[in-house]
Amino acid sequence: MVDFAELLSTIRPDYVPVDGYYKPEFVAREKQMLWPHTWLMACREELVAQPGQYYVFDIADESILVVRSKDGVIRAFHNVCPHRGRRLKEGAGETGDSIVCRFHGWTWDSTGENRLVFHKEDWDATGGICGVDVNLGEVRVGLWEGWVFVTLDPEVEPLEEYLHPLPEVFAKFDYKNTRLAWHKTVVLECNWKVVLEAFLESYHTATTHPQALKFGSRKPFSQAHGKHSLFAFHFVRPPEPDPSAPPVDYRLARYAYVEEMNRTLGALWGRHGLKAAERLLTDLPETATFDEVNEAFVRFHSEAMAEDGARYPVEVTPEDLQRAGTAWNLFPNMIVLPTIDGWQGYRARPNGDDPDSAIFDIWWLERSAPDAPSTVEPEFYPTMESFKGVCYFLEQDFDNIKAIQQGVKSSRMKAIRPNPAQEVTIQTFERTYYEHLVAPRGQAPRGDGR
Ligand code: FES
Ligand SMILES: [Fe+2]
Repeated sequence: MVDFAELLSTIRPDYVPVDGYYKPEFVAREKQMLWPHTWLMACREELVAQPGQYYVFDIADESILVVRSKDGVIRAFHNVCPHRGRRLKEGAGETGDSIVCRFHGWTWDSTGENRLVFHKEDWDATGGICGVDVNLGEVRVGLWEGWVFVTLDPEVEPLEEYLHPLPEVFAKFDYKNTRLAWHKTVVLECNWKVVLEAFLESYHTATTHPQALKFGSRKPFSQAHGKHSLFAFHFVRPPEPDPSAPPVDYRLARYAYVEEMNRTLGALWGRHGLKAAERLLTDLPETATFDEVNEAFVRFHSEAMAEDGARYPVEVTPEDLQRAGTAWNLFPNMIVLPTIDGWQGYRARPNGDDPDSAIFDIWWLERSAPDAPSTVEPEFYPTMESFKGVCYFLEQDFDNIKAIQQGVKSSRMKAIRPNPAQEVTIQTFERTYYEHLVAPRGQAPRGDGR
């Protein structure tokens, strides 16, 4: 028997028990205590841009049907027929104003109100069937910067409060006007928390992504913000060039970094950033100073966006960028990485009841015209092997995944030992996670994860 409270009491900044990574009791406990009591990111708004469009979000045993109703409002329902429990929809698509169960034909409109119970009179003998019991079960929806969140808990605070301080930190970034450039989903041989935590720190960068070393090896820092957390790098101005040393080509340095990330990750720097970096090489002399390169890059970047009808977020100051950092864990299972060019998102979920399998989503969203449609087809990779050749940078991360999952089961491993300076994110996530598992049902902790 797992004693969740006892395990919680052992968590320190440099000590997190490994039990949660593989014991089946945790899968069951998460279904009871975690998933129903938090806000969860279900999908992007652009996937349900038009009335009648739907998207199915599955989490553990729950399936949520997100629909843009005929009145334009995004609603969410338990994706289940109240008659005999058939799942109503899968994937994504168009349902118009009519949601029909394929078992016996019960029908609802896009606001979830029942329109047809086939042979309804048959229930007359038992007092009749009508009212809310035959409507779809509604689920709370919250919207933030184009992401659709849902929660099964009527008591959880409003989304804006739950996300604090992210709405304020990202307020000037105008992320509502970003669109999916790609969306990849891959099934990995690890617990969902193992893959989540693999993307929650940059301590691994020098070893796992050695190619990044040519752009410097600054030490990141990490911070808790209630139940959420972030890691970031301090912006450091390069030293003034030594007049006796060969001149530094700041254009080339900027270009090389943007090009490398664009080519190997396909995110953080997208098509606008790459175009701006290329222009540095053609439009600026080799002797351009650090400040001249910076100034020109911003100008070229905003011009590249304007060509697509997108707007450069001119309000964002260097202080705002510093505060936004590199990556945030949005408790429980989402990560966002903000940049000027757009933002990247990750989401980790359990895959069925197997603690050794996870479904991992990766999104890259680029700035776009406010009315731009989404035309991206999601890509699905059922195994890590099928992901080979898809994204070099992520493959480097995934290369650790299975080995971690195997390793944490070793009798040598009672706990992982997070770096107390660079991996505060992991400790914050784990502590808040255990607090949810311990708190009585319906009374999940509301705020401070420290
Ligand atoms: S299960 Fe849906 S109509 Fe019977
Ligand atoms: Fe990585």
